[in-house]
Amino acid sequence: MSESAQNSSSEMDSMLNELYPYRDTTTTYSQIPAQGLKADEVLAMVRDFAKREDEVGDQGKVSGSLYSGDHDHYHVLAQVFEEFAHTNVLQRDMYPSATKFESEIIAMTLDMLHGTGPDSDACGVITSGGSESLITALYTYREQASRERGVTKPNVVIPTTAHVALDKGAHWLGIEVRHATLTDKFVVDLKAMEAMIDENTIALVGSAGNYAHGLIDPITEIGQLALKHGIGLHVDGCLGGYLLPWIEANGVEVTPWDFRVAGVTSISADTHKYGYALKGTSTLSYRTRSLRANQYFTFPDWPGGLYLSPGFAGSRSGGLIASTWASLVLMGQEGYKSAAKDIYDAAQKIVEGIRRDIPEIEVVGDPLFLLAFTSTDLDVYLINDALKERGWRMNALQLPAGLHFCLTRPNTKDNVVEQYVIDLKESVAYAKEKKGEAARSGAMYGFSGTPKGNATLSFVMSGYLDAMHELAPTD
Ligand SMILES: Cc1ncc(COP(=O)(O)O)c(C=O)c1O
Repeated sequence: MSESAQNSSSEMDSMLNELYPYRDTTTTYSQIPAQGLKADEVLAMVRDFAKREDEVGDQGKVSGSLYSGDHDHYHVLAQVFEEFAHTNVLQRDMYPSATKFESEIIAMTLDMLHGTGPDSDACGVITSGGSESLITALYTYREQASRERGVTKPNVVIPTTAHVALDKGAHWLGIEVRHATLTDKFVVDLKAMEAMIDENTIALVGSAGNYAHGLIDPITEIGQLALKHGIGLHVDGCLGGYLLPWIEANGVEVTPWDFRVAGVTSISADTHKYGYALKGTSTLSYRTRSLRANQYFTFPDWPGGLYLSPGFAGSRSGGLIASTWASLVLMGQEGYKSAAKDIYDAAQKIVEGIRRDIPEIEVVGDPLFLLAFTSTDLDVYLINDALKERGWRMNALQLPAGLHFCLTRPNTKDNVVEQYVIDLKESVAYAKEKKGEAARSGAMYGFSGTPKGNATLSFVMSGYLDAMHELAPTD
């Protein structure tokens, strides 16, 4: 075998090992086993996977992804989940506790987002996650614009940094997305945004904070634009929604973004991120009930009976609603404030460390909890390679190239961020030394941005999606 063929076969092996690490050590089931396995066997196998896979996150070296990291907290939530895991929240006559849990999660969220008060008409729904909240919001505004203004060719104006689930949702819902460019402060450019609004615009979107850089768009000014043009403004607080209120409560100045801002008509905030709940829930809050009504679906003529449904999902597990409620009441305001303080302080330590000791990289904006950096001189993906070697799992950004570290509770453990700054400095030194060489973690980046590059990437990415749904290949 030639050297290049050998290299590509070992690359292939390492890719397969990453995707299917258990292919050689466990049975691969391509059929339901004829005889059911023993509970002990199943539990042992699953626990072995979980133990191995949790080791990575528990070290506190992962960006985002694991928001609580407190296994005692997870354990209580899992016990609550177990009580209702088998129940269907559609059957309220059998499981009325679902109404208590759901309405209280919505009420507590509205209170946190300053949506309550004597004249408030604010309300909300629970969804399965940030993407569903965003896509549902798009659907709501599309329906509103169609009913109230007869809009048939809807468009939505969003910052280029708004979460890509909006692009996905708009694609599914037949909505055109207009991406407004950013200012040199990496938040949306209001002039660019206003220039894209026309009579078919169903809503504007701003983020608090956005996924790429953790920054909050100028929501007050976007709210004024929305009011001026008579359209809604959705604030994507999926990431920051459960954290920013507590950072602010700790006395830190936070750009206004919630229902106190005129013109904000809906907000998504994920309980399964900084709400520290189990994965699978998010909230979507509306300023008015009439706006929410646009997402309701009723079908009185179905042979299966009178059908009514608030959103995308049909059956939903009561376990998730119950355990999300439990997370909120277990944490309490004091718990959220204390976690927010640790996270904010950890992020500031890194920002200070970079600005003091690592001039080769530039922090984007003034981050509160998620910090992104870029470099004019160095390949940040080489920096990422060296960070990976040191056990760190960062998120790679593009357009422009960068890395981000979304700080969560596991990262606030003793000495984690101090070690990060040391490792980052060493990784920058590595990138300097290897300048001009191709970065391992940057292989896919740099192709995007041109029609041909995008088409190639889409092809490769679709292949990866295929692989994720297929059994491990046999040799
Ligand atoms: C700002 C923002 N919005 C939306 C989402 C999508 O959330 P989910 O992954 O729960 O669908 C994310 C995910 O990281 C996010 O950061």
